[in-house]
Amino acid sequence: MWIIVGIVAIVTVAVVVIPTTLILTKKKITTTEIKSATMSTATSTTIPTTISTKTSTTISTRTSTAISTKTSTATSKATSTAISTIISTIISTKTSTATLTAISTKTLTTISTTTSVHRPFYKNWFRTSSMKDPRIAHTATVLKNGKVLVAGGYFDAINYGISSAELYDLSTATWTRIRSMNHGRCRHSATLLPDGKVLVAGGLTNQDTPTNTTEWYDPPHEIWIKTGSMNIERHQHTASILQDGMVLVAGGFTTNRIALNSAELYNSSTGKWTLIDNMKVARRFHHASTLENRKILVTGGFSNTTHALDAAELYDPLTKSWTITGTMHYARAGHTASVLANGKVLVTGGQSNDPHNKVLRSAELYDSKTGNWTIIEPLNIGRTTHAASVLNNGSVLVSGGTVGTFKDDNSSEVYDPLTEKWYISGDMNCVRGQHLLSVLSNGTVLVTGGKARIRTCPAELY
Ligand SMILES: *[C@@H]1O[C@H](CO)[C@@H](O)[C@H](O)[C@H]1NC(C)=O
Ligand SMILES: *[C@@H]1O[C@H](CO)[C@@H](O)[C@H](O)[C@H]1NC(C)=O
Ligand SMILES: *[C@@H]1O[C@H](CO)[C@@H](O)[C@H](O)[C@H]1NC(C)=O
Ligand SMILES: *[C@@H]1O[C@H](CO)[C@@H](O)[C@H](O)[C@H]1NC(C)=O
Ligand SMILES: *[C@@H]1O[C@H](CO)[C@@H](O)[C@H](O)[C@H]1NC(C)=O
Ligand SMILES: *[C@@H]1O[C@H](CO)[C@@H](O)[C@H](O)[C@H]1NC(C)=O
Ligand SMILES: *[C@@H]1O[C@H](CO)[C@@H](O)[C@H](O)[C@H]1NC(C)=O
Repeated sequence: MWIIVGIVAIVTVAVVVIPTTLILTKKKITTTEIKSATMSTATSTTIPTTISTKTSTTISTRTSTAISTKTSTATSKATSTAISTIISTIISTKTSTATLTAISTKTLTTISTTTSVHRPFYKNWFRTSSMKDPRIAHTATVLKNGKVLVAGGYFDAINYGISSAELYDLSTATWTRIRSMNHGRCRHSATLLPDGKVLVAGGLTNQDTPTNTTEWYDPPHEIWIKTGSMNIERHQHTASILQDGMVLVAGGFTTNRIALNSAELYNSSTGKWTLIDNMKVARRFHHASTLENRKILVTGGFSNTTHALDAAELYDPLTKSWTITGTMHYARAGHTASVLANGKVLVTGGQSNDPHNKVLRSAELYDSKTGNWTIIEPLNIGRTTHAASVLNNGSVLVSGGTVGTFKDDNSSEVYDPLTEKWYISGDMNCVRGQHLLSVLSNGTVLVTGGKARIRTCPAELY
């Protein structure tokens, strides 16, 4: 069945291209090629209407669904021949050779690197019960008792934080609504404290109102207790637990959509927040990763409403200070950052500043020993606001997100640190962006929420 889908996809792509472009190749698509792929959307306006419509559709279809895979050459060749025939026919009936030649000079590189793709069949994602409330930009925290606490987010009204909270019990695979938080919030943070409580901080209460309130969830009593307010209202910040039990909150957006460089520490014995040294760079929608050496690596994000950052910096809990570390090869926001078993940090995708290549395929690894970034094999498709989690076997699962021409996606792929390659890993049952992946205590991954925009879209297990 997937072969057929593949063929259909190839036919669609190939309609506007001469058969010589149907060289099925295992070639890696480089960034330059991706850029030219995106560029060709623009060039399509110069060709006849019938064609240009097709070209644009083609390109966006490709970027949203194309996934390169390791299919056998034999299959590819057979498919290629079959398709060339079909396509020659389609082309000859639809367009003149002259036009095709004109187009092919512009799109040849693009198409030839993407026609080899089709989606193999994998059934790795399984529906589990739906959350009581659908949600986007929520938090999900695996508790010490193995349950998953999901809190806040928004759904019906964009960026109006909800206060509802619920628990997923993996022994029964069901959700139970618990007491709501004291405040509605989305784009907030949730941090598991050493004593098993969960501290939620900040977020948006409504579209334009970030909050400084924080509260903690007490698992035995399933209640929320208000605690000290942060010094600054923020959302889209990061929160990291430090070795001494303090919680470090950094950056975010404050009132009037100003990106913050401020950082504060929470002491759970006193319930108080203390401002500390500012980050070197103001940012929101960034990532914070806890390294083996206990330093916190902060990567990318937006410096304001639109400008993505390549800057990375380290927080040293011993000196309570920030230092700039190696700059990423790509500016990105809405990316993922995962700490691998070998101590390196894998950063994938995100949104760039390049108007012709907004959604990044690029992946890079941070080496905390040298502070340097190395470009590695890119994702099979560019993604932003996707989700990643480190599986128990050390591989990294990446799923969904916004792809190509800003469509949400259902596909997933897995990075194997040993082979340093990406492998296609099946489609989720829903398209999702800004969803979350939580590794359960039994190793299964729970995916919750996201921009599925379908109320009935259930949570899923991988
Ligand atoms: C883990 O828990 C989930 C949810 O109950 C269940 O579907 C899955 O089969 C479990 N996995 C293992 C390996 O036991
Ligand atoms: C938190 O915000 C509230 C309302 O804006 C304000 O009254 C309060 O002083 C702030 N708290 C701190 C610790 O800054
Ligand atoms: C938290 O505050 C308590 C009470 O003031 C203090 O004893 C403790 O050292 C503080 N914790 C840290 C990690 O600074
Ligand atoms: C965001 O920051 C970038 C880089 O500093 C700047 O070029 C751009 O004009 C800023 N955009 C807005 C909307 O402030
Ligand atoms: C790290 O990057 C810097 C600057 O590019 C370079 O001089 C240095 O040799 C690199 N270190 C390692 C270990 O690759
Ligand atoms: C880890 O598990 C995933 C999911 O089952 C699988 O795709 C991947 O190949 C495994 N990785 C290794 C290194 O075994
Ligand atoms: C995932 O999305 C693709 C493209 O929109 C669609 O063809 C496919 O059927 C979807 N997969 C699942 C499992 O729904």
